[in-house]
Amino acid sequence: MESSSVTTTLITGIAELTTHADPDAGPGTLADAALVVGDDGRVAWTGPAAQAPDADERVDVGGRAVVPGFVDSHAHLVFAGDRAHEFAARMTGAPYGAGGIRTTVAATRAAGDDVLRANLKRLTGEMLRQGTTTVECKSGYGLTVEDEARALRLAREQVEAVTYLGAHVVPAEFKDRPEDYVDLVKGEMLDACAPYADYADVFCERGAFDEEQTREILTAAKGRGLAVRLHANQLGPGPGVRLAVEFGAASADHCTFLDDADVDALAGSQTVATLLPGVEFSTRSPYPDARRLLEAGATVAIATDCNPGSCYTSSMPFCIALAVREMRMSPAEALWAATAGGARALRRTDVGHLAVGARADFAVLDAPSFIHLAYRPGVPLVHRVWKNGTPAV
Ligand code: NIG
Ligand code: FE
Repeated sequence: MESSSVTTTLITGIAELTTHADPDAGPGTLADAALVVGDDGRVAWTGPAAQAPDADERVDVGGRAVVPGFVDSHAHLVFAGDRAHEFAARMTGAPYGAGGIRTTVAATRAAGDDVLRANLKRLTGEMLRQGTTTVECKSGYGLTVEDEARALRLAREQVEAVTYLGAHVVPAEFKDRPEDYVDLVKGEMLDACAPYADYADVFCERGAFDEEQTREILTAAKGRGLAVRLHANQLGPGPGVRLAVEFGAASADHCTFLDDADVDALAGSQTVATLLPGVEFSTRSPYPDARRLLEAGATVAIATDCNPGSCYTSSMPFCIALAVREMRMSPAEALWAATAGGARALRRTDVGHLAVGARADFAVLDAPSFIHLAYRPGVPLVHRVWKNGTPAV
């Protein structure tokens, strides 16, 4: 049999296409649209269906909406076990604290590579089926030189963006000498981890790492050529956001407790404010003030923070629904933050939008409009997913 030589694909029947083609000008939504995937897996053309050019193959999506694939710019996927009982206790009144991380550290250290790989595969599979086509993943449940390097090596096998988070919490064996742990994180552990990582991150929070320790670790990481990002102002006010901006971090993540100076610092910087509303949902905490950030001119991203402690969802549509319902973002702002915003938080220009030349990563929704992502919470609306110009779901 002769092998077919399909090289380009025309996607038709798009009731509503969101491209974010002009990154600074809203959703860029077009009704009755078409899209051509080029032979390089990139977007070759978008426009009104009536003007669509010819292509080698045609796919009719039957009057559905198409959106850029979600960019989940914050997740912790290398771990073993879960903390369902901690969640249940929290829902009946127990507070959330950084210390729960140590429970997952013990389970992760005890797990073999095969177990961690299988868990990563399960979670990235869930993400893809829910429309996420770019994933960032952190280490942070190993907290020894070997276990952190292992986490990053395993993450690298399955995700595109990898972050070294040796500074997640001070592990139990360093409880009485946290400075020795900071030395390890910025010394031998950094040396072992830097080859596998794109970014370094620090959980700058009461109960984790303070301002001085965060400075030391970020300085060392930048010295090794890693870009930086920060867990900042999650559990209370603190220096995290200011440090993120000062160090030119790609993003400051959480941003739940901000003062005016924090908001101004973000607005006047290239540092993206990455909001993780699933965490507030799952820890029953007040939501970040997204409107204040948007109105000040900060760039806002939304991500899941998928992890076994503070938020065990892998669903970007769920986070979009929370952003709209609980943080008063418009559906268009929330979709932008979950796609183009996530790409900015990873300093990526090839994903998060569907302008000509972008990677052809998109989700076909079982809905006539992207608004349904928030309007129909909890409903599996992702019908098909294309990644790199190929059907992936
Ligand atoms: O982003 N804040 C630090 N890290 C995670 C929580 C990790 C855990 O509780 O296991 C977060 O919320
Ligand atoms: Fe996190």
